[in-house]
Amino acid sequence: MKNLVLVGFMGSGKTTIGRLTAVELGMQFMDMDRRIEEREGMSIPDIFAQRGESAFRDIEEEVVKELAARHDLVIATGGGVVLRPANVEILAHGGVVVHLRVDVETVLARTRGHTHRPLLQGEDLSTRARALLKERRPLYEAIPLSVESAGRSSEAVAHDVVAIYRAQEKQASS
Ligand code: S3P
Repeated sequence: MKNLVLVGFMGSGKTTIGRLTAVELGMQFMDMDRRIEEREGMSIPDIFAQRGESAFRDIEEEVVKELAARHDLVIATGGGVVLRPANVEILAHGGVVVHLRVDVETVLARTRGHTHRPLLQGEDLSTRARALLKERRPLYEAIPLSVESAGRSSEAVAHDVVAIYRAQEKQASS
């Protein structure tokens, strides 16, 4: 089966929805950020602090290629995967890519107090999140398949994602 690839801003629910959909579809769940940490033997904040964002994006691109070469996976990507458009093309080649839509208020509510996201730290998180989301919005919106994540239960979002995935798989095999 094709991979199911979840894309979306930080706090859009990629990991939670990924786990739920993987159970429902009987596929293996793979969190890209965890894979990166495992590969590098370092946490994401340490990679950003010691090697910088651009080195992180290079590693992220390598992991995209590694996971896209496999199948039967539900992949939760990192929110910045869309910054290199080739990543999305590679993931879409053997997979169904679904964007989880979210608004800035939901992002702020869901990520409050978390310390593992280097791009959402420091003062005035609201301005930061708003600026990042604005910059990335066209990249997320270019993904043709999407599900609203804000203000909905994880189960409802996962249900819609599974329905989209099954419809795409059916279409591909007919
Ligand atoms: C990032 C999102 C994070 C992680 C890194 C950078 C981003 O993943 O990859 O901190 O640029 O949006 P999550 O979306 O899982 O938080």
